[in-house]
Amino acid sequence: MLEAATTIDYAADMRWKQVEATMRRNGYQPDALIETLHTVQELFGYIDENALRFITSKLPISPSKALGVVTFYHYFQMKPAGKHTISMCTGTACHIKGGEAILEEICERYNLHPGETTPDGKVSLLTVRCIGACGLAPAAVFDGEVVGNLSVEKVREQFDKWMAEEDDEETE
Ligand code: FES
Repeated sequence: MLEAATTIDYAADMRWKQVEATMRRNGYQPDALIETLHTVQELFGYIDENALRFITSKLPISPSKALGVVTFYHYFQMKPAGKHTISMCTGTACHIKGGEAILEEICERYNLHPGETTPDGKVSLLTVRCIGACGLAPAAVFDGEVVGNLSVEKVREQFDKWMAEEDDEETE
């Protein structure tokens, strides 16, 4: 059974539009499930009950069936790998405005590749194609919050702040 999902505003996070685009491209057929789950994992780093609710509200698949698929494949994760997540946009506008150079520097500094988590489990680094904030390029999503006009310093500041958190420290 799925736990009660917290209410989230799907319209406020452009990544859900990309998830919906995957389903649309597949004609909202049940066969779209695997590809849609891949899209969610790529964009968010994991698939939680909110994602399953979103998907099963659009595809003719029951939540329990979708959950069965997620738990069957080891590739899919139901929890974020890291306590915090930085998703760097690699879409065209962000690329042109220097997003790739920022990503490279961050990868080098923290010895991470996109998709990986710091050894202490504090921060996961992901990439997304476009988060719909092209006017703010280069942009990223820090724990669900879109941050624009990025610089290496801005990303490092956030990264270092999270890395310095005590394990039991409350997060905002
Ligand atoms: S390309 Fe980065 S937000 Fe659109």
